[in-house]
Amino acid sequence: MRIRVFRSPHDTARALARGVAAALEDNPSLVLGLPTGRTPIPLYDELAALCRARVVDFSNATTFNIDEFVGLAATDPGSYRAFMQRHLFDRVNLPPRRIQFLNGVARDLTAECERYERAIARTGGLDLLILGLGANGHIGFNEPARALVARTHRTPLSEATRRANAALFGNDVRRVPRQALSMGMATILHARRIVLLATGGAKARCVERMVNGKLTPALPASFLQLHRHVEVWLDRAAAARLGV
Ligand code: GLP
Repeated sequence: MRIRVFRSPHDTARALARGVAAALEDNPSLVLGLPTGRTPIPLYDELAALCRARVVDFSNATTFNIDEFVGLAATDPGSYRAFMQRHLFDRVNLPPRRIQFLNGVARDLTAECERYERAIARTGGLDLLILGLGANGHIGFNEPARALVARTHRTPLSEATRRANAALFGNDVRRVPRQALSMGMATILHARRIVLLATGGAKARCVERMVNGKLTPALPASFLQLHRHVEVWLDRAAAARLGV
């Protein structure tokens, strides 16, 4: 794993936004995988600013978000789709037809997961997948478990993850859905390049286990060690236990 450490969350976001701009310049038809959560918000702000300044061009890009809640329509303000509209899609020149998202209200959720896998395959696969890190070591909604699921699937959410997502629901954890759809670990590991983004001291212990610990489904992010081109972008606080 290639580790990059920056002074602050802001510096990390700024550098990664430049990295995304460079990747888009190299390949205007880039297929991007994107996360939600608090961590990528400064990245999305930077990308919006770069787009306004015409430094980044999303007009030929395609995006796939990693996950979505079950039972929430795209228009529901708590949905990840609505989050992405607010923080990125409404602020950049990405054509709506090239925004791919899991539909949490599809009538047949198994078919919906299969559709998503086919849609990713049809584009030729994810070129650059940006990931956040759950405080319990989840990526996407691949939660700590006895076994992991390879492909896009429906999954129950742990109490810890529901609490971590409560901010999207007026801090009322009872309103956080109990299930989600998520890319699986193989979907993630098939991306050509992965950037895991983590900032803040609360992630430091998890980052240490992800980078230096054993591969274990109890910490799904540890499976990223299997990937040939994974970068871990951290601020100093998240890197505090790495001794770098
Ligand atoms: C959610 C998302 C993850 C995200 C994680 C971290 O549970 N499903 O994809 O990486 O939260 O969130 P935060 O960045 O707010 O710590």
